[in-house]
Amino acid sequence: MFNIEEFDIKLDTEVIGRNFIYSDEVESTNSVLLSSKEFNQHGTVLLGEFQTKGRGRKERSWVSNAGQNLTFSILLKSDFKEHKINLVNLGSSLVVAQALENLFQLNVELKWPNDVLVEKKKIAGILLESTSKGNKINRVVIGIGINVNQPNFPGKFDIQPTSIRKEFKELVSRERLLSEILNMFEDMLETWKKEPEKILNDWRNRCKMIGERIKIIDGDKQKSGIFNDIDEDGFLVLKIADKYEKIHFGDVSLR
Ligand code: BTN
Repeated sequence: MFNIEEFDIKLDTEVIGRNFIYSDEVESTNSVLLSSKEFNQHGTVLLGEFQTKGRGRKERSWVSNAGQNLTFSILLKSDFKEHKINLVNLGSSLVVAQALENLFQLNVELKWPNDVLVEKKKIAGILLESTSKGNKINRVVIGIGINVNQPNFPGKFDIQPTSIRKEFKELVSRERLLSEILNMFEDMLETWKKEPEKILNDWRNRCKMIGERIKIIDGDKQKSGIFNDIDEDGFLVLKIADKYEKIHFGDVSLR
């Protein structure tokens, strides 16, 4: 059982997570915050102990044992016009990576666009979604799934999953981890507004695939080239022969 009091004592934010909603069972924390009339305050965090329809990128499902992991979403409602939303995607994966390193000394790598890996295995994933009114984005929801205390992952996966418990060899406090992430997330939002290039540089430093020959798979389409860099919007720049192509979607693997 998630101890809200223990989490709250460690929460050191002004806005993020101050409106905190805990639910035993929810379809998807992202779906709720994207459409709920009731929960529409900037900074609201919804933690679901179990998601019946947890979603991942590219319409995949996100399956997570009840009560062992963290599956939550953060709602942002501000003026997104002059800032690049996609950088919040990269910034969120950086926050998770940094928290895992600070609390458990794990060696964390990032994989474009926002997979969080330990020993090449997936420990967390992020799904950023938004809704618009007219041509204005009015809600951004950042959904974060972290494998925390799940002991095993039966089934077949594109990338083998792992959990903090498996890598750190101990059960860990979900309350402490969530508060650490939200504290860092609030700071990251400031960096996003004031120094977006810092997010890009920190992300580059944690991605070990830059400079490598990679394959991008998007549905039935495939492209190969060198992972040259990420651009100022956080999109992947693929070098194919002497041409550069921007990649907005897809799964990256080493060739
Ligand atoms: C991915 O790696 O494909 C992204 C996974 C994102 C999963 C989280 S769990 C909380 C939030 N609610 C969802 O339905 N998905 C995200």
